[in-house]
Amino acid sequence: MPKKPYALHVLWIGWKLVIALSFSLCLFALLRLHRYSEADLNPSSLSRRSRVLNSHFEGPPKVAFLFLTRRNLPLDFLWGSFFENADVANFSIYIHSEPGFVFDESTTRSTFFFNRHLTNSIQVGWGEASMIQAERLVLEAALEDPANQRFVFLSDSCVPLYNFSYIYRYLMASPKSFVDSFLDKKEGRYNPKMSSVIPRSKWRKGSQWISLVRSHAELVIDDEVIFPVFKKFCKRRPPIDASKGKQNIKLQKQHNCIPDEHYVQTLFAMSDLEGELERRTVTYTLWNHSTTNMERRGWHPVMFSYANAGPQQIKRIKDVNHVYYETEYRTEWCSNNSTLVPCFLFARKFSQGAAMRLLSDSVVGLFDASTLLDSPS
Ligand SMILES: *[C@@H]1O[C@H](CO)[C@@H](O)[C@H](O)[C@H]1NC(C)=O
Ligand SMILES: *[C@@H]1O[C@H](CO)[C@@H](O)[C@H](O)[C@H]1NC(C)=O
Ligand SMILES: *[C@@H]1O[C@H](CO)[C@@H](O)[C@H](O)[C@H]1NC(C)=O
Ligand SMILES: *[C@@H]1O[C@H](CO)[C@@H](O)[C@H](O)[C@H]1NC(C)=O
Ligand SMILES: *[C@@H]1O[C@H](CO)[C@@H](O)[C@H](O)[C@H]1NC(C)=O
Repeated sequence: MPKKPYALHVLWIGWKLVIALSFSLCLFALLRLHRYSEADLNPSSLSRRSRVLNSHFEGPPKVAFLFLTRRNLPLDFLWGSFFENADVANFSIYIHSEPGFVFDESTTRSTFFFNRHLTNSIQVGWGEASMIQAERLVLEAALEDPANQRFVFLSDSCVPLYNFSYIYRYLMASPKSFVDSFLDKKEGRYNPKMSSVIPRSKWRKGSQWISLVRSHAELVIDDEVIFPVFKKFCKRRPPIDASKGKQNIKLQKQHNCIPDEHYVQTLFAMSDLEGELERRTVTYTLWNHSTTNMERRGWHPVMFSYANAGPQQIKRIKDVNHVYYETEYRTEWCSNNSTLVPCFLFARKFSQGAAMRLLSDSVVGLFDASTLLDSPS
């Protein structure tokens, strides 16, 4: 065989490379296809695939309001007025309530909530992993609608502080999720047995009342690594009961890691996503730092009643434009395109009386309380 000219030789090597590369790409594709067909047997991964296929949507992006409730929504009358002033194409509502609880004309005064409950809800033990399972279920339901682009968790005692348009614009303007996430230095929550999966340095604390962008919501429901660890190692400590003896002492020693205040934050830290977060929450909580009981110090949110939900108090909350995180000596300034904005869009915990006052002071109505707040009282 005659010796090939140099240029031709190089060409030939090039072709060999192309052929080899295409072959391995085909093999790779084939393997992936095989993986998918295996995954088809599992219904949860099926819904994951239909989500990927349906990722296009027409019309405006929606904010999904995700309510986690014990039973009904006592503040439905306030939310009803709030949604009155929204465009129906701009939002959706999902409720995780106790199994079997139905939202209809006998359980809610607002038609916006009719049949918005999940039919696959679970019994939630407060302080247990079932709480985060409920969060995942409601996210999974909301992800079925490709128009949902922002996901806000709300409790049954949360109220909006602004009208719909303002909240919609605020959330859509940020490409980041609002997740307060900070180092948790308190002993007894991180269980060292988790360390093979979750190192101590990635253990984070924050609030359950967060707002996620779609890609982060998907990450939460697709997580098959961190959730099982929480499920296995987070248990609620029962109340101290001397009569139960040794068994009770053993249970008292287990780690109460408060999963709903650590899970998403730790998952995002583990996924190196903290750069994609506004590390603050848009839901205001006033903590009772009463020192009468050292054990429970700083643990209980103050419940706003009719008496302390007046215009001045509400204005004080709305005027907050930065938050200090003491475990990290970090101040978060709340800004949008380098302009300072209010930190909080929602607040908890509000009693029915307090919510009634917001409504009658027409902080609701169109949620434009500016005239009211500016007038001396
Ligand atoms: C609804 O969404 C559209 C498109 O994003 C926006 O222009 C409009 O202002 C929104 N309506 C309300 C009431 O926020
Ligand atoms: C945030 O900034 C964007 C762009 O400057 C603007 O369109 C939007 O209205 C702002 N949102 C709020 C709540 O100030
Ligand atoms: C804070 O907690 C203390 C002790 O439990 C209670 O007496 C007090 O009323 C609480 N304050 C508020 C504002 O809820
Ligand atoms: C952010 O603000 C600057 C200056 O005010 C403005 O020029 C720019 O267009 C804004 N960005 C967006 C995305 O609106
Ligand atoms: C909504 O609230 C914002 C901020 O308080 C206010 O500027 C705006 O006029 C209100 N919009 C409507 C439609 O009431």
